[in-house]
Amino acid sequence: MTFEDSQMLLFDQPAAPARRLATDELLAGIEAFDEFGARTVRDELTVAGHGTVPVFINEFWTAGQRQASRLHEISYRACFKPQLPRFFIERLTGPGDVVYDPFSGRGTTAIEAALLGRIPWAADINPLSRMLAEPRLHPVDLAGVVRRIEAVDFQRQVDCPEELLVFYHPETLQEICALRAFLHERSASPEWDPVDGWIRMVATNRLTGHSPGFFSVYTLPPNQATSVTAQKRINAKRNQTPPRRDVPELIRRKARKLMKERTAAESQNLRAAAARARFVTGSADATPELPDASVDLVVTSPPFLNAVDYRLDNWLRGWFCGIETDQLPIWQISSLEKWEAAMERVFIELRRLLKPGGLVAFEVGEVRHGEIRLEEHVAGAAHRAGLTPLAVLINAQEFTKTSNCWGVSNQLRGTNTNRISLLRKSGQG
Ligand SMILES: C[S@@+](CC[C@H](N)C(=O)[O-])C[C@H]1O[C@@H](n2cnc3c(N)ncnc32)[C@H](O)[C@@H]1O
Repeated sequence: MTFEDSQMLLFDQPAAPARRLATDELLAGIEAFDEFGARTVRDELTVAGHGTVPVFINEFWTAGQRQASRLHEISYRACFKPQLPRFFIERLTGPGDVVYDPFSGRGTTAIEAALLGRIPWAADINPLSRMLAEPRLHPVDLAGVVRRIEAVDFQRQVDCPEELLVFYHPETLQEICALRAFLHERSASPEWDPVDGWIRMVATNRLTGHSPGFFSVYTLPPNQATSVTAQKRINAKRNQTPPRRDVPELIRRKARKLMKERTAAESQNLRAAAARARFVTGSADATPELPDASVDLVVTSPPFLNAVDYRLDNWLRGWFCGIETDQLPIWQISSLEKWEAAMERVFIELRRLLKPGGLVAFEVGEVRHGEIRLEEHVAGAAHRAGLTPLAVLINAQEFTKTSNCWGVSNQLRGTNTNRISLLRKSGQG
């Protein structure tokens, strides 16, 4: 039996097409794409030293598509929709192929790859990323989560930062701190298991938000923890004091939602993927723990210059998980020149990791109100690193509604677009 045959046995075959498209076939398919009612518009991008590459604009994935798995519903700043990695994974890989995301965030690519029967590899400079992604590859059952929560002594007296009382009712804060201490102790012991990982992932996600489904009083969305000072202002303005929340009950509820509608085939794929998954906590441009020529497809999205402050957004999650977020060398690069140089280093590393003929789908969003077209800088950096730019896909939401009556460039101005550079490592290695 070949390696590929054995991989096919491990993973359940998804209903979606599982064969790898040749790149010519892929580009022809993208150009002919009209699944959501609009025809693809074609443009061109000039890449210095390389020539021109086609730019394809359409609504390639949309809210109208098959719903994504509930398992993705963990918030994270600047995460992409699961439909984005799915679009490329389904077309460009087969079961058992390695799909890698070097800027993994909440792990959208890793989880989608696993659900589709591929092997997920992921890296992120922030250890929080692994804590949010890895547990979801283990399809634990709700009864196990409930039993473990029942084992926590939520009344235990432990040290608690008083300043957090701007977010939490005193008894809620007490419960959060008791759970935090319980998880820290277990993580340092051989007892730690996937159920603990699930509880930490879910609790981290419930820390702050703007509905009674979260532990906190009304605050910013869960992925953008505000400072203590700013929260005092929010409380004064809204004339609010933190209400009592039931920490164990909110964890049970969110865990149940994340597990809802998970099929037996998906559970089987997750288990198979978990056994072969790799998570690296480190910088995307230096991952010596990952072997050469081993990745079939990269689907990723780097920090867009300094558009998001990942340290500030994650300080409270970091506190809960025991991560010193302000010490992390997270890239937040304001100079375009330095950002491009950093991306070039990433592409050199990806070129090492990719199999000959392997592909990269590299997503950048809009920054500085669309004044900077990051995809142009991506293509230049990739070319210098020895990857071949094949095309740029621009996924424009609302495209189908407006493309017929507006010029494309006007239409794009007011929309939220994903810009994906498609790159290939040449067949020679
Ligand atoms: C745009 S987000 C990725 C979001 C991801 N696509 C998702 O769906 O959740 C960029 C990520 O890059 C990470 N990051 C920043 N600097 C990094 C570096 N040098 N190496 C690896 N990851 C880094 C951040 O921690 C953040 O999680």
